[in-house]
This record gives sequence, C-alpha cells and structure tokens, in this order.
Amino acid sequence: MRYAVFSDIHSNLEALETVLEALRKEEVGRYFCVGDIVGYAADPKACIKMIRELDCVTVCGNHDWAAADLIDYSYFNVYARAAVDWTKTQLDDPEKDYLKALPLKYEDEEITLVHGSLERPEEFDYIFAEADAARTLDLCRTKICFIGHTHSPARFTKGGRRLVNVGSVGQPRDNDPRAAYCIYDTDTGTVEIKRVKYDIRKAMNKILDAGLPEILAYRLLEGS
Ligand SMILES: [Fe+2]
Repeated sequence: MRYAVFSDIHSNLEALETVLEALRKEEVGRYFCVGDIVGYAADPKACIKMIRELDCVTVCGNHDWAAADLIDYSYFNVYARAAVDWTKTQLDDPEKDYLKALPLKYEDEEITLVHGSLERPEEFDYIFAEADAARTLDLCRTKICFIGHTHSPARFTKGGRRLVNVGSVGQPRDNDPRAAYCIYDTDTGTVEIKRVKYDIRKAMNKILDAGLPEILAYRLLEGS
C-alpha cells in the first residue's frame, strides 16, 4: 500500500490544499501527519478542519501543543510566540480540544511517527545530526520512523532501520519554497519526497492582512 506522510503545515491552507490535491492523484491508502498543523500562517481553523476530515493519523507538534496551552512556549522565538498568541485567538474549544488530544507518538506494525525525537517526544528535540538520529533509531521498533520539526527533508539509517524527515508542507526551510510531502510504499519500501508549487502570494497576503509578523510571510518566498 502507498502511504502519504507529511508534516509542519503551520496553518498554510494554500500549501495544504495543493498537497492534498496532488495526493488525490497518488492513489494512497492512508494519510499520516507528523505534527504542527498550526502556527505561523493565517488559517489554523481551516487547516485543522481539513486534517480532521481527511481521516489522517496525526501526532502533535510543539506549535499544536503551544496553541492548546499544553506547553510553556516562552522559549519560542519572538515571531513564533506572536504566531502562537494570534493562533490562540482564532481557535475555539473544539479545535483546542482536538489539538490537546493528539498523541506524542504513533506506532503500528509498520511505521512510527514522532514530531521531534523518540528519546524525549515531549521535549520536541530537533534531529539534524547523525548521532541524534541514531539515538532515535535505537528506540524505534519498526523498520521506518517518520519525523518533521526541522522543516527540511532528511534521511538516516542505522541497523537496517530508517529515519525519514518528510520536510514541511507550509513553511519549508531547505531553500526550496515548494510544499513537501512523502510517499512511502510499504510493499517496495520506497520513500519519495515530492515537492509541489502552491500559491505562495495568497498565503503571504493572508499573513500580512492578519497582522502576523511580516517575516513569516516573506520567508515563504525563499523557503527559509
Ligand atoms: Fe514546525
């Protein structure tokens, strides 16, 4: 079966709609989201609605938990903090309850999902280095684990297990502004990271109109 795995939507509805449209042509059997549905861009409510309607297995990201008041986000940078504060004003209790109920990790017979690391999922550590990836792979019980959080696609292996960072739908940071998603074929074991162009200008204008920090709009153009 073909699985769709994606992460870090960050309230970017234009990017999410474009990815889901691309996925409709991919003949995927299941959908998985590796967290951070909200934060940064201007459509938290619509993005939550879309993910809920998708019947998508979803784990929480640090921005989801911050918007649901489950973590102290005073350590976030000033722009991320401003975005969480604004996001909280946009969400009603049912959406906050949905975010609160998202698990820190997901595991079945085939795959594991965690936003940051398996070492301390609740701390949302970033995995950039091989050594950090190796510690999560040591804790992984399935042949493949998908992560997000850094907003840059990456792949690591250890002892026959694979760790795949699927990049970001709504705020890529690998100097490619196109939305990212992953297709995992459980029969062949193939992992493909794909990119699609979306209406960045429209997402930018919504961020600016909402009064969110301007940098959150302009960084979308660079994918940085
Ligand atoms: Fe994120």
